Amino acid sequence: MGAELGVNVDHVATVRQARGVTYPDPVRAAAAAEDAGADQITVHIRMDRRHIQEQDLIDLSHSVRTRLNVEMAATDEMMAIALRLRPHQVTLVPEREGEVTTEGGLDLRDTPTRDSVASAVAALQEAGIRAAIFADPDPDQVEAVAASGAQVIELNTAAYAEAESEEAVLRELGRVESAAASAANAGLYVAAGHGLHYQNVEPLTRCGLIREFNIGHSLVAQAIFDGLSTAVRNMKVLIS
Ligand code: PXP
Repeated sequence: MGAELGVNVDHVATVRQARGVTYPDPVRAAAAAEDAGADQITVHIRMDRRHIQEQDLIDLSHSVRTRLNVEMAATDEMMAIALRLRPHQVTLVPEREGEVTTEGGLDLRDTPTRDSVASAVAALQEAGIRAAIFADPDPDQVEAVAASGAQVIELNTAAYAEAESEEAVLRELGRVESAAASAANAGLYVAAGHGLHYQNVEPLTRCGLIREFNIGHSLVAQAIFDGLSTAVRNMKVLIS
C-alpha cells in the first residue's frame, strides 16, 4: 500500500488574507483536495493568524471527511483551541515570531520544550486527539519523540529538500531514512513533510517506512497552473 497524502491548504488562506475578503476559501479547497484523493487535510494555525483563522478551523472540523490535522505551537492559547475543536490530530511544531515558515523540528533535547510538549501530548491524548510531533531526522530527537508518548512523528524534510549537491541530497535522504527506521522500530507512525514537491518526493517513498506526506506550498503553487484537483491527483500518483 502506498503512502497517504496530507494536503496543507494554508496558502489558500494566504491568498484570501492578502485581500481581506472571503475567497479563496480553504474549506472549499479542502473538499476539492479530498475529492481528488487527499487522505488528510492539514492546516497550521499561527500565533499571528497570517493565514488560517479560528473560524476556518471550526468550519473544517465540521466539513473534513477524511482527517483534520492541525499544526500548532504547544502554547496555552493553541492548546485551548485544540481541546475545544478536537481535530483528529494535532501536530506540535515550534514557532518563532516573524519566521517565514516553520524553521525546524521541535528540539526535545531542550528540557522546557520537552516538558511542555509532554504535557501537551498527555492533554491531547486525554481528549482523544492523536498527537504528532514535528522533529528533525536526528536519532536523539526520534528517541525523545518516542519517549514523549506521541503516536506520530513527522520528520522534517527541509534539509533534504534544500540540499543542492548530489552528495548532500543522498546524505540528507539517508538521515530521513534512518530516522524513519528508528521511529518505526519504536512503534511510531512515521510522517514526513516540508519543502516536498513533484521532483523530490519520490526517493522518500522508496524505503516504504514513511506512511504519510504533508505537502502544501508546491501543491498550491501547481494548482495555479493545473487546478487543485489535478495537482493533488498527480502528487497522489507519485507517493503511492
Ligand atoms: N509539515 C509541517 C510541520 C509544516 O509546518 C509545513 C509547513 O506549514 C508542512 C509540513 C508543509 O510544508 P510545505 O508547505 O513546504 O509543503
